[in-house]
Amino acid sequence: MQKLSIQGGAPLRGEVRISGAKNAALPIMCASLLAADTLQLSNVPELHDVATMRKLLEQMGVKACVRGSEMTLHGGQVDKPEAPYDMVKTMRASVLVLGPLVARAGCARVSLPGGCAIGSRPVDLHIKGLQAMGATISIEHGYIHAQAKKLKGARIFFGTVSVTGTENLMMAATLADGVTVLENAAREPEVVDLANCLRAMGANISGDGTDTITVAGVEELHGAAHRIMPDRIESGTFLVAAAATGGGITLTGTRADILETVLEKLCEAGAKISANADRIHLEMNGRPKSVNVRTAPYPAFPTDMQAQFMALNAVADGSAMVVETIFENRFMHVQELRRLGAQIAVEGNTCMVRGADHLDGAAVMATDLRASACLVIAGLVARGETVIDRIYHLDRGYEHIEAKLSQLGANIRRLK
Ligand code: EPZ
Repeated sequence: MQKLSIQGGAPLRGEVRISGAKNAALPIMCASLLAADTLQLSNVPELHDVATMRKLLEQMGVKACVRGSEMTLHGGQVDKPEAPYDMVKTMRASVLVLGPLVARAGCARVSLPGGCAIGSRPVDLHIKGLQAMGATISIEHGYIHAQAKKLKGARIFFGTVSVTGTENLMMAATLADGVTVLENAAREPEVVDLANCLRAMGANISGDGTDTITVAGVEELHGAAHRIMPDRIESGTFLVAAAATGGGITLTGTRADILETVLEKLCEAGAKISANADRIHLEMNGRPKSVNVRTAPYPAFPTDMQAQFMALNAVADGSAMVVETIFENRFMHVQELRRLGAQIAVEGNTCMVRGADHLDGAAVMATDLRASACLVIAGLVARGETVIDRIYHLDRGYEHIEAKLSQLGANIRRLK
């Protein structure tokens, strides 16, 4: 098991390039299943989850070719519409092949993802939506078996806002017979990026980015070229790390318009932020101030930034409430932060964080992707050495993180 060793205390300074968004790349790669043509993707992040998705698509018959951050996917021969348990259990986003497979191949056999560290993560909304579009679905031996000669347009209301639920059904609807309306849809920028890619492939979609998405089905889709949007969570993670260490950094290849609530919170914490088309600069003089956060669907504060702000609040001046409303078990990082000296009380889905004037390095363990990022930030500010175990979680969602942090002056190295 690889570990990261961090010597804390250095303020982050310098410039870092942001990679393509993991949570846009994953659904967009699945869109290749919808066309017997070539999808040319650029700005694809080199991440473990992206490699897993590529292997999953290849074993279905998609021809993939990767050169750095360029990827071409050809969906000409999708002859095995299956997503086996041993692949799905390592990456829940595999469920995103379900909608495209039913729409294109008329059938799919996809393992139920099972739960994960942050919650039970059901996919009932994905299944109900496909049933509303006429698919026959049975759950047998842990697998979703779906059949549909031809999906039909339907009006689908999401009882809970679901990002991949919205993405799965939007993809399925592109080839359905008739019009599909997704109500109470997710408004995340990654949903819009997927819709932009699908429109380039010939889909007829409107309303993406709002809570009502309308898709008029077409006979078939064709190939396209698409550049993956920047990763707003990677951007937010680096900005919080710079704020927590009292540094000053510039992000390039990013966008400020998809990060507004995070930037507002950082200003509330005392950071000075300026931004233009594809750059964000943050300067933090002295110790950050505590900031309350409450997660909710976009455009509200993102749950994927909750753990990072917990680390900031752990060393901030004052006390803050952190409320997690999306997932039922997304405080796994609290125990680990306490090992570093953080003062955090947990009550249900709410944490009260009292800022300590310093943290002390210790051995800690990553439990999920964003919890790992939280521990990296805490390690960057703690006195002495912090060693983070199980950093394969980190590698799933952050491209070359220790190289990027070293470039900003962090004292960080990977222990084999
Ligand atoms: C996506 O997960 C992201 N993953 C997550 O990022 C992110 O945390 C989450 O959206 C919320 O923003 C990808 O995009 C690949 P949901 P997703 O469906 O789609 C409940 C990361 O760190 N729900 O929006 O799986 C669910 O239990 C990851 O990059 C149902 O009840 O999340 C949760 O409480 C972690 N039934 C809420 O909805 C369903 O059928 C939101 O989940 C689906 C979801």
